[in-house]
Amino acid sequence: MNVLVIHGPNLNLLGQREPGVYGSVTLSAIDAMLRDEADQLGYALRTFQSNSEGELVTAVQDAAGWAHAIIINPAAYTHTSVAIRDAIAAVGIPTVEVHLSNVHAREPFRHASHIAPVARGQIAGFGADSYRLALQAVRGILEEGAGG
Ligand code: DQA
Repeated sequence: MNVLVIHGPNLNLLGQREPGVYGSVTLSAIDAMLRDEADQLGYALRTFQSNSEGELVTAVQDAAGWAHAIIINPAAYTHTSVAIRDAIAAVGIPTVEVHLSNVHAREPFRHASHIAPVARGQIAGFGADSYRLALQAVRGILEEGAGG
């Protein structure tokens, strides 16, 4: 099984970016942790980060034919991007939305997600562990698909 992890804008700055909100773990450490956990599950895992909305749309489109599931932290585009939402709907790949912070406990503009209605679910508020929990959610989705 193949899992694509997509990180949106400013997540390349994790570790130095507002550590009180997002923690001190770097993006490369999160990716390494996910690769380890995916290895243990026997999944192939690819990761991708971009600050550009169009590149994120293309990454979702390109997942078709390879990925069995997508984990995405669309970052600020969560709250603005109809284009990423439409790409997820178009490819029809089960998608888990992830946030490090609890977006619902923050500013009102972060409470709305264009992605949530086309995602299988949303995990928010557990720091880097949100990604680990998302991989567990993906496992459940893929095992359900395999009839297990
Ligand atoms: C975020 C939450 C977003 O509101 C914010 O714009 C981000 C990161 C998170 O992981 O908590 O860049 O997606």
